[in-house]
Amino acid sequence: MRTQVGIVGAGPAGLTLARLLEVAGIESVVIENRDRDYVEHRIRAGVLEQGTVELLREAGVGARMDREGIVHHGIHLQFEGERHHVPLSELADGRSIMIYGQTEVVKDLIAARLESGLPLLFEVDDVTVHDLQTELPRIRFTHDGAAQELECDVIAGCDGFHGVCRPSIPSGILRTFEREYPFGWLGILAQVAPSIDELVYAHNDRGFALLSLRSPELSRYYVQCRPDEDLAEWPDERIWEELQLRTGLAGWTLHEGPILEKGVTGMRSFVAEPMQHGRLFLAGDAAHIVPPTGAKGLNLAVSDVRILADALIDWYRSGTTAGLDGYSNACLRRVWRAEHFSWWMTSMLHKLGEDPFDLQLQLSQLRYVTSSQAAARSLAENYVGLTTL
Ligand code: FAD
Ligand code: PHB
Repeated sequence: MRTQVGIVGAGPAGLTLARLLEVAGIESVVIENRDRDYVEHRIRAGVLEQGTVELLREAGVGARMDREGIVHHGIHLQFEGERHHVPLSELADGRSIMIYGQTEVVKDLIAARLESGLPLLFEVDDVTVHDLQTELPRIRFTHDGAAQELECDVIAGCDGFHGVCRPSIPSGILRTFEREYPFGWLGILAQVAPSIDELVYAHNDRGFALLSLRSPELSRYYVQCRPDEDLAEWPDERIWEELQLRTGLAGWTLHEGPILEKGVTGMRSFVAEPMQHGRLFLAGDAAHIVPPTGAKGLNLAVSDVRILADALIDWYRSGTTAGLDGYSNACLRRVWRAEHFSWWMTSMLHKLGEDPFDLQLQLSQLRYVTSSQAAARSLAENYVGLTTL
């Protein structure tokens, strides 16, 4: 098999890249090791930056998002028993965010790819990448029991944090930066209308909690927990009790409903530099991870592949390699901004331990971002997505 761009991974990064290349008339093959149903139902992100929304629209995959997604113009920060509104759009030149699940983005991209009749192989095994520093890198894998080899001009490693592409780069080339956090999130999807119109990020003595949503009928809620928390210790009643204790306010009710899904996510910050080696280009979680508190992971994956698609388009149209050569540097400016923002939001909102000094610093920072226009504007422009990077 031969293609122009071999794409490993059918998450948001791989599927969006494939779509951008399709629109530009560039061939690709996408290979994914899980089945379609798994990929379409893996519950993760829910907040799209305006830039992500615009890109999906321009790529012709925004119709259902525009019908079903919910535009939000603000968020709430809750601490010391009070809820404070941060009017994102007012503070960030009218820009907004869209609530539309990653599952839905992925479903729309898969549907579009299959409708175009373009190659997207699920349930491939034994994926390996070869000859990265030649002009003909290759991907080997098995599919339907048969060994396959795909010759490409370039390979896009969009295979997430646990994928095979990043570890295929010989040792000594990548520099990695990492921070693990001593906590995780226990997340639920509940069949109940959201109890509040916008997201609530709550700082509490018992630990952080987040109220989010997926639709007018589905709420998505999180509570800070141990990174290795055993779900068996969290019957539904305990989860609701914690949510009530951490987000409760006089005169406001958090409505409960059947829990449809439960899961625990660890939290880490991670960056691998450079995001390229020869003809292999890493994008999305394959190259970097942020803790979810800033809602940046999916948005970063999309901004990486936008840069990669533009560089590939330039290369195929005019032979110039400047975009490809500068790919990693161009991505990393935004990546490091999101790393800082996500670390900052995480550090400001989670229970870090018992140190009273840490607690006072958090509360001071929270009071500052909810009382100073300058501080709130900084939070807002990062949250909706910076346009100047
Ligand atoms: P992935 O989604 O991980 O996709 C990689 C794909 O590659 C997967 O389908 C995987 O099966 C496949 N793959 C792996 N190995 C191989 C292999 N060897 N061969 C072939 N295929 C392979 N981000 C936000 O922007 N906003 C949010 O609100 C947000 N909330 C989050 C909440 C939670 C609980 C979690 C866990 C994450 C959240 N994120 C959020 C982060 C976001 O989900 C990720 O950053 C995003 O999925 C990255 O997309 P990706 O395509 O790079 O990687
Ligand atoms: C979500 O809705 O899943 C969500 C929202 C905001 C975050 C993280 C996750 O910061």
